[in-house]
Amino acid sequence: MLVSGIQALRIAAEEGYALPAINYINMEHLTAIIAAAEELEAPIIIQTSQNAIDYAGFEYLRDLGVGAAERARVPVVLHLDHGKDLSLNVQCIRYGWTSVMMDASLLPFEENVSAVREVTRAAHCLDISVEAELGFIGGKEGDVANDPYTLPEDAKRFFEESGCDSLAVAVGTQHGLYKGEVKIDYQRIRDIKAAVGGRPLVLHGTSFVPLEMVAQAIDCGINKVNFDSELKMAGMKAIRSYLAENPDAYDLRKMNRPMMAAMKEVAMEKIRICKAEGKAWLK
Ligand code: G3H
Ligand code: ZN
Repeated sequence: MLVSGIQALRIAAEEGYALPAINYINMEHLTAIIAAAEELEAPIIIQTSQNAIDYAGFEYLRDLGVGAAERARVPVVLHLDHGKDLSLNVQCIRYGWTSVMMDASLLPFEENVSAVREVTRAAHCLDISVEAELGFIGGKEGDVANDPYTLPEDAKRFFEESGCDSLAVAVGTQHGLYKGEVKIDYQRIRDIKAAVGGRPLVLHGTSFVPLEMVAQAIDCGINKVNFDSELKMAGMKAIRSYLAENPDAYDLRKMNRPMMAAMKEVAMEKIRICKAEGKAWLK
């Protein structure tokens, strides 16, 4: 069932677990993610990035997400990940997403607040949740990760002034592969959580973060955890080994099955560490 991000985040925050949020770009990814959530009776967030929308097309990606969610035996939130502009956020609000992210984190504080506030006004009319980002979560493009880190007093002001429902915080994680050792500033998460009165915080760039570190971050107050690269890499590894064993293969279905199985396995591991197993409040 397709559910509102507002409701899902509220329940996760009340019960002290995190919603696993996993990106998809096609039917196979989606099938693996939903199968993992169903097997573990967990609520799940399926996310579309701007890049995924550019690759698969807005309507097609929407139809896949909404169709999968409506058929799922667990609560599913359809979320826009790192939406960088107002128009894409409004398009998603209008055409079926139940959660969006207005990521204006590269703008100065006041401009970030006003961009998010604008999206929040529209989204809340339709019971759609809005995630924002404060601080800088680097990675992939080679930028310096988490510079600047999120400050607790800024996070408090940001929630109050923007009206957002959840906030992605810069506390040490970074997108994609890690160059050095992963370090998470747990005390900062606790301080931000206290400053914002328990409102939902989001951890991005969580692929390749050791599971016990993810668990500790959740215990400090994270209620949504994003995973992307690690699932894609697990899927590609399965494809490579299938092709090594079957160099003459031409039936994509045979290659996609091991890819989906590998992605499902990683998704299940992440769902468990989020403590979302058995939390499918709508069955
Ligand atoms: O927004 C998506 C993520 O933060 C995923 O990051 O690829 O490092 O798991 P990741
Ligand atoms: Zn991210």
